[in-house]
Amino acid sequence: MIVVTGATGQLGRLVVEDLLTRVPAEQVVAAVRSPEKARDLAARGVQVREADYDRPDTLKTAFEGADKVLLISGSEVGRRVPQHQAVIDAAKEAGVGLLAYTSVLRADTSTVAVAPEHKATEEAIKASGLTYSLLRNGWYNENYIPTAQQGVATGNVIGSAREGRVAAASRADYAAAAAVVLTEDGHADTTYELSGDTAWTMDDLAADISTVAGTPVGYQDLPAEAHAKALTEAGLPEPVVGMLVSIDASIADGRLADTTGDLSRLIGRPTTPLRTTLAAALGD
Ligand SMILES: NC(=O)c1ccc[n+]([C@@H]2O[C@H](COP(=O)([O-])OP(=O)(O)OC[C@H]3O[C@@H](n4cnc5c(N)ncnc54)[C@H](OP(=O)(O)O)[C@@H]3O)[C@@H](O)[C@H]2O)c1
Repeated sequence: MIVVTGATGQLGRLVVEDLLTRVPAEQVVAAVRSPEKARDLAARGVQVREADYDRPDTLKTAFEGADKVLLISGSEVGRRVPQHQAVIDAAKEAGVGLLAYTSVLRADTSTVAVAPEHKATEEAIKASGLTYSLLRNGWYNENYIPTAQQGVATGNVIGSAREGRVAAASRADYAAAAAVVLTEDGHADTTYELSGDTAWTMDDLAADISTVAGTPVGYQDLPAEAHAKALTEAGLPEPVVGMLVSIDASIADGRLADTTGDLSRLIGRPTTPLRTTLAAALGD
């Protein structure tokens, strides 16, 4: 039995889809905090079980009979270490054979703002004694769809990433890697640095948007303070502004640029180019 937490999220749904191409539906458990959101999966034969990171009793039941569990990192930044600890404890109690976890690229040394929670979770997983696979995911191509839409509307993409590069891949690529680890042998106690095959700059991003949209879009690099001011004036809330500016600082620092090849090796094909993801999104 393979259990996927966060299975109604964007990545989780793609992992379940990939698993359904590899194993019978009755071997897949969608562990979700709102079972009503997973009715479509239940209709396809997937077992849907309630699993809320804030309610450990649900996790215990959700993991019964699980050989492998994928813990998809939660989305409530700042609350994730205790939430993930509850999942680890429940996996341990259930005698799970392998716990896979969606971490962040170079979690142990990264200066990306979200890294400390991932690092703490990785440490908790190792301390638990569970067999693990750490899927250190780089950035999603899809993170740049709103940027592309904004770029098409204004002719301009702004940022403070300087010449920094991003080795992004599509969510579906990361989902496929998780499905491989969950269905194939040989992934015990592994750490994968998963990222796109190509690392691109913000100038490259603007060029791809121009090509896909058929309209000129440029990249304007700003000092961090000016970037923050522009985002605030565009109406973004303060925590989001802080997060976006800090991400660009990490990109400028090369923290999301690693092209290790781990992802394409795991999935047995090249990763999805940024332009392909943008074309699919802007074509909608
Ligand atoms: N690599 C990147 O570029 C990147 C970007 C953004 C986020 N991330 C991380 O990767 C994760 C997966 O990405 P995504 O795109 O699938 O995000 P997403 O669509 O926001 O999905 C997050 C999932 O976590 C579930 N969740 C949140 N809090 C929970 C709780 N208390 N108990 C149980 N489940 C809970 C959500 O449940 P519901 O379906 O009920 O809402 C959802 O299924 C994110 O949560 C975040 O940690 C990575």
